[in-house]
Amino acid sequence: MAKDFLQIEGLSRDDLERLLSEASRNLPIAEQKVARKESLTGRVVANMFFEDSTRTRCSFETAVHRLGGEVFNLSESGSSTRKGETLVDTALNVEAMGVSAIVVRTSVSGGAALVARRVRCPVINAGDGRHEHPTQGLLDLLTLREGIGRLEGRTIAIVGDIANSRVARSAIHGLSTFEARIRLVGPPTLLGRSYCDLSGRPDLVTIHHDLDAILHDLDAIMMLRIQNEREAGGAVAGDYREMYGLTPARAARLPSHAIVLHPGPVNRGVEIDDTVADDLPRSRILRQVTQGVAARMAVLERVLMDAGTSATLAA
Ligand code: CP
Repeated sequence: MAKDFLQIEGLSRDDLERLLSEASRNLPIAEQKVARKESLTGRVVANMFFEDSTRTRCSFETAVHRLGGEVFNLSESGSSTRKGETLVDTALNVEAMGVSAIVVRTSVSGGAALVARRVRCPVINAGDGRHEHPTQGLLDLLTLREGIGRLEGRTIAIVGDIANSRVARSAIHGLSTFEARIRLVGPPTLLGRSYCDLSGRPDLVTIHHDLDAILHDLDAIMMLRIQNEREAGGAVAGDYREMYGLTPARAARLPSHAIVLHPGPVNRGVEIDDTVADDLPRSRILRQVTQGVAARMAVLERVLMDAGTSATLAA
């Protein structure tokens, strides 16, 4: 694999299978059922989060700890980016401190790749603008396989603000690699036909504006929030919940085996109602968070092993 982990697009099915297997082996450690590993002992990882985050930042931090490494966090607030220092200059300075890997979240699409081109150490994309959120893509694949088994031929809906969603992009690339059928659902202002071609597998991806018409046919449904920070709110007319919210009435029309995902943060009462979000075991929203630690452990080990460090993969 490449020096960095920047996107799901372009990863082969074998690449993804290896990462998912490594993540599954790490799951008991993430769940604290067995003791932590020591594969990152002596290594320092920098978490550079220049956009807000709860799950991804804390999850990477936890993953480093569970691998025996050390981690520090840098955010825009309180750093010298407020004095005009660029993302790349900040990363070069952080690398000069001797870190083994840099995790980057930025509002700039392509920002993680920009950093990766300039530093020698591995860079992991923790979400860059509207482009990709590849570790979220991995944890979604893990959660889906745990919940519904094989993905080939299964039908998974991604509902909401597709236009602004890096989560959707990573999911589309990952799911199409595993030959899942993808139903993209949302208002026309947030969902154009070009999304069918995103994965290079237009045979697997269809566009829908009527959520009610497809509920009966789904194995899983992934709800997305409207990304007001990317000015998506103005593109949504009328009552969003009425058109696209996963209400108890809509959840009741899903097949009994179908599971519910959401990357978070959840806007309860908008894209998903309380009783659906909290309906275990159908709702896998918190399970996604646990799987996220295992997925990030696998990615950290993979990039550090490929970089020729002392990080080693489980046998
Ligand atoms: N899923 C996700 O990226 O959540 P955060 O923005 O809290 O990291």
